[in-house]
Amino acid sequence: MTGLDGRDGAQGRHGDHAPDRPLDPHLWPSGTVVGPDGAVSIGGVDLRALAAEHGTPAYVLDEADFRRRARSFREAFGAAFAAIGTQVDVYYAGKAFLSTAVARWATEEGLHIDTATGGELAVALRAGVPGARIGLHGNNKSDAEIRRALEAGVGRIVLDSLLEVDRVAGAAAAAGVRAPVMVRVTTGVHAGGHEYISTAHEDQKFGLSIAGGQAQEALEAVLARPELELVGIHSHIGSQILDASGFAVAARRILELRARLAERTGYLVGEVDLGGGYGIAYLPGEVPLDPARVAGPMADAVATVCAELGTPVPRVSIEPGRAVVGPTTVTVYTVGTVKPVLVEDGEEVVGDGSAPGAFTRTYVSVDGGMSDNLRPALYGARYSAALVNREGVAQGVRARVVGKHCESGDVVVHDALLPADVRTGDLLAVPATGAYGRSMASNYNLVPRPPVIAVRDGATRVLVRRETEEDLLALDVG
Ligand code: LLP
Repeated sequence: MTGLDGRDGAQGRHGDHAPDRPLDPHLWPSGTVVGPDGAVSIGGVDLRALAAEHGTPAYVLDEADFRRRARSFREAFGAAFAAIGTQVDVYYAGKAFLSTAVARWATEEGLHIDTATGGELAVALRAGVPGARIGLHGNNKSDAEIRRALEAGVGRIVLDSLLEVDRVAGAAAAAGVRAPVMVRVTTGVHAGGHEYISTAHEDQKFGLSIAGGQAQEALEAVLARPELELVGIHSHIGSQILDASGFAVAARRILELRARLAERTGYLVGEVDLGGGYGIAYLPGEVPLDPARVAGPMADAVATVCAELGTPVPRVSIEPGRAVVGPTTVTVYTVGTVKPVLVEDGEEVVGDGSAPGAFTRTYVSVDGGMSDNLRPALYGARYSAALVNREGVAQGVRARVVGKHCESGDVVVHDALLPADVRTGDLLAVPATGAYGRSMASNYNLVPRPPVIAVRDGATRVLVRRETEEDLLALDVG
């Protein structure tokens, strides 16, 4: 058996038409091992055995990898910010994927939990996460969500509008508590993908604009309410960020706002949250943003700006979701229909002699699809896939992995290079589905949602069980 790092040869060899093997270690969980027969195991669990026991589709989550990633955020950011004389809290963004077990692992690894709804809050509380280690977000929190957060004694409620200043203050007064709050601001920095743009104004629903003055107004409104304790200023600049320079620009704008507020009111905000968004690799050859590499420059940017402004360095927090859980999970599917389709004028390929300019694309249907991974349909997100029950022939075939839904946009992997003998009954796995896979899953076509199964040291543990048709029917009360 060989670990992913130990396999030699080029990665993602689309050029020579061989299937995507070896498996790129940036995409697959760290506990992935390819056996001599080509079968893949994760966390010591053979995916064939897992599929036989639990069925497919299934999300398979490598617990050790999750813990390692959580730890590496805490350690890298902790060390970088200690070097500038302050502390960092890492909040795991539960929207990426939250279950009670995952909330516990994150807490055991020293992380806090960021929630965005009452549902996420309920899971974190059920997991036994102390209220003080939980944050609550949301651009349209309900009264019940605000009340619940106050009852639980959450460490912070992140205010997203002027209206919410009054609403949370009112709820705190009614509950007889003082609510710790942050104000979410927009810095004009939009990041995601490979570049960022930085403009003054933003046309979106989140946060309060620094440039437009609403951020300052909200901060001062909070200070005027004795029921509220202003603990921080928050900004989240985007998701799937691979160019870290946007963080520093956002940090500068927030720290300047903090200094202006201190000048006007004498109140120096103690904490600044720089949000999440750390990008991961989805395709072979892509390079993720490495927390160990971005932490230092982010800390330096904070220290430099604070020195310029003559203000003390604040406590800092961050909220990674995708980068903690995304690469820890693969979705395992069973192959059903395999159908060659003659395509005219294909962009790429590999003429197969059918006709000039034409080629055959192999449509490989699996037993899930857009109900367990909405990202391709919603964002045009690209993934890869690999055969995991056997080696397959060396010759590759251009394939499109599609789901079972009644919609032609139901694509799982747009352009996969699979062994040419891929066939019904094979197991395919799609890596890097841990973030926003299960959490955005739906019951479209009344397809029950797959389970999340943790693997560790050769053992499996069901974290979220498979939905059944009975579950779906139980909701239909006639
Ligand atoms: N903090 C806040 C306030 C956020 O809005 C988000 C994500 C995060 C943290 C975590 O971001 P991450 O580190 O996971 O990138 N459904 C989309 C992503 C939406 C992200 C929304 N906010 C996707 O599948 O790509």
